[in-house]
Formats: sequence, C-alpha cells, structure tokens
Amino acid sequence: PKVTWILADGREISAQVAIGHNLMEAAVANNVPNVIGECGGCLSCATCHVYVEPDWVAKTGKPGEMEDDMLEITTAERKATSRLSCQIVATEELDGIVLRVPQI
Ligand code: FES
Repeated sequence: PKVTWILADGREISAQVAIGHNLMEAAVANNVPNVIGECGGCLSCATCHVYVEPDWVAKTGKPGEMEDDMLEITTAERKATSRLSCQIVATEELDGIVLRVPQI
C-alpha cells in the first residue's frame, strides 16, 4: 500500500510499503523525520507516535491496551487520533493512508 506522512512543516513523504511491514519500520526506511522507533517496535518507547488522518481511523482501528498506556508518555500531545505507528501493519486496505508526524 501507499503511505503518506505529512510533516509538521507541511512537507509530504510517500512510499510504497510491503504488506506485513509496520508503519514505524516504513517511516525509518524512508527517512521520515521524527518517527524514530527507538525500541524497534516492541511498545516500549513511544517514539513512533503519529496522528492518523481522521478519514483513516476506522481502518486502522483503536490502539490495544498496552499501546494505549504507552500513548500517555508521548513527547507530543496525545490526540484522539494518536497511534504508535509500530503497531499499524501495512495491509491492502490501508492503501492511500495519511499519517501526520508530530513536532517533537
Ligand atoms: Fe517503540 Fe513503537 S517503536 S513503541
């Protein structure tokens, strides 16, 4: 699927992501600034925080319980659309998804 990240300064980065890869790995692979993924995707750092564009929230679903706890310690403000992008796995359904990268 195609994934687009919109940076805090308005710049956009888009990439094709292989199915099964998580969107933190994809961001790191495409040099998206401010998506760091310090813990490698094991839900212990919250440095992969993104805001899912409202139109896509239904398709990405809600954060799991552990993710929900980790979202309390993000550097940028938590919003209703906040997710840890290591917990969003690329599927065909997410083709065209747009994520906003917080300013950190
Ligand atoms: Fe650490 Fe997502 S990469 S919580």
